[in-house]
Amino acid sequence: MCGIIGFTGITEAADILINGLASLEYRGYDSAGIALVQDNNTKIIKTTGKVADLRDKVTATDNTYGTCGIGHTRWATHGGVTETNAHPHQTPKLTLVHNGIIENYKELADDLATKGLTPVSETDTEIAALLIDSLYNGDPFEALREADKILEGAYGFCVMFNDRPGVIYSMRNASPLVVTHTADGSYIGSDVIALIPYSKDYFVVPEEHIVVLEKGAVTLYTMDEQVVEPKMLHVDWDTTAAQKGGYDFFMQKEIYDQPEAVKNTILPRIHNGKVDFSADKINDELFEGVNRVIVTACGTAMHSGLVGRSIIEQLCRIPVTVEIASEFRYMNPIMDEHTLVVIITQSGETADSLAALRLANERGAKTISIVNVKGSSIARESDYVLYTHAGPEIAVASTKAFTVQCCGMYLITLKLAEVMGILTDEEIADYLARFVAATETIPAVLEMDEYIQSIAYKIKDTFSAFYIGRGLDHAFGCEGSLKLKEISYVNSEAYNAGELKHGTISLVTEGVPIIAIATQDHVFSKTMANVEEVKARGAHVILITDVTEEEGGYAGLYDDLILVPKCDDFFGGFATTVAMQILAYHTTVYRGYNVDQPRNLAKSVTVE
Ligand code: M6R
Repeated sequence: MCGIIGFTGITEAADILINGLASLEYRGYDSAGIALVQDNNTKIIKTTGKVADLRDKVTATDNTYGTCGIGHTRWATHGGVTETNAHPHQTPKLTLVHNGIIENYKELADDLATKGLTPVSETDTEIAALLIDSLYNGDPFEALREADKILEGAYGFCVMFNDRPGVIYSMRNASPLVVTHTADGSYIGSDVIALIPYSKDYFVVPEEHIVVLEKGAVTLYTMDEQVVEPKMLHVDWDTTAAQKGGYDFFMQKEIYDQPEAVKNTILPRIHNGKVDFSADKINDELFEGVNRVIVTACGTAMHSGLVGRSIIEQLCRIPVTVEIASEFRYMNPIMDEHTLVVIITQSGETADSLAALRLANERGAKTISIVNVKGSSIARESDYVLYTHAGPEIAVASTKAFTVQCCGMYLITLKLAEVMGILTDEEIADYLARFVAATETIPAVLEMDEYIQSIAYKIKDTFSAFYIGRGLDHAFGCEGSLKLKEISYVNSEAYNAGELKHGTISLVTEGVPIIAIATQDHVFSKTMANVEEVKARGAHVILITDVTEEEGGYAGLYDDLILVPKCDDFFGGFATTVAMQILAYHTTVYRGYNVDQPRNLAKSVTVE
């Protein structure tokens, strides 16, 4: 949801800014721009389109010198995709880039207009720039502090004041910003991915602070100008983890990263046949007295919550609800100190999930988050955090983040069952062995890539598709359907298999792909009955199951069969998920779309 980069130092800034934007492009790719401080002037180069277009424009521009600058890649919110609306934005006194949404921009615009300050763009960002400009009388701290009091919404800003050449001022509310410093200079960006070519040590800009970047130092201040020591973090992966590594797309690479990501997430947390959260500093008392669980998240992460609901209810026999985070705080949810609220998020910065967490904290619930990005806002603000170890996920469509989130839910479920005294030690050891075995089916599915590709070819021209399954199969099917829809633009929906005939089956006509997932033994025959119903109406059935034709007696009921390794009824879903990811990937490639950058989407949704 917009990517920001800034550099000031002893080397040329243009390449650093553009390379940074290229690595942040997953956050938005409507337009991009940079601003370079040059002598007594700030030069702006911006364009609609991708960072590659900006790079071409910069290459074609004379005099792109300057050792201090800021850059931005935009996911449009206010105002269309035009060059005027692209960042950086400039006012008489300053140049600024912004990530977030200024909610009260309309009233601010009216007020600024009375002072003769009118924007040239349609963006909320330019209003913020004009506001800071109007508050600036030579003291950047005062201007930013006052603006912070007036602005409502989410923001991460990098500001260069004309009369302070070589210095970048930054502050944030909700939108993430990270900073590092090396002998070459000071760097700031929306994500550590943009910084790791220079350093693996960084800090997250805390909210209600101002950071000042100069070529020789980075200084963190409280709003009332007290210097504070930043809390340094270290990235434990390197630049190669954030590169395609020979794959055509990041999504493809990330699908193949899954065996490793899953191992890294699970194995360090299993000791002597038990779930061991001691390294995560998650105490058993978190799970004591819990009589209800609420999982809240968005999109893919919410789907891993659906998996969580199914397994916690089955095993622990306590009620679990899964709430879409954007609804959560507006529904006056019921919770108390016996409620465990689980927030699931890859980025740790999703605005709605963060707001849901804050509400849960306010209402006295116990909170634990399952997060991939270290030090992110949600990780910092929850009582406990269980980090997934997927490494950086760059493709907008989540793949490995989802499988490790499911792993997180399984680990939490087994720990809860242990603390609640539901399982004996032997039973826990047995569950864990089955869990690990279930994840070990993933490589066998990766080997089916070419075969699944041939199925994708057959459905590539479809307008719509439906994913059906029961129980856990349905939870995983929701994710399979989202994958196909978001990248291939096939109008795809997931349904509980038995629900289809209550309305949706009217959309099933000759050749419509139905992806039927049937791995749950106790409802296998029921799902197959639903498959018969759609087959009878001419659907193109792609059956994903672990039951052989001989065992299942389903000859003639499918057009294509993806026979995955045997799935455990409780831990099933890893194999079918990977099959569905591969199907979505190849369908999209055949349709000729950019797999990693689907239209209108951004990886990290830091606005409401
Ligand atoms: O960073 P988060 O996990 O909080 O993001 C939530 C959703 O935006 C995200 O899961 C989204 O649905 C996926 N990237 C889609 O593949």
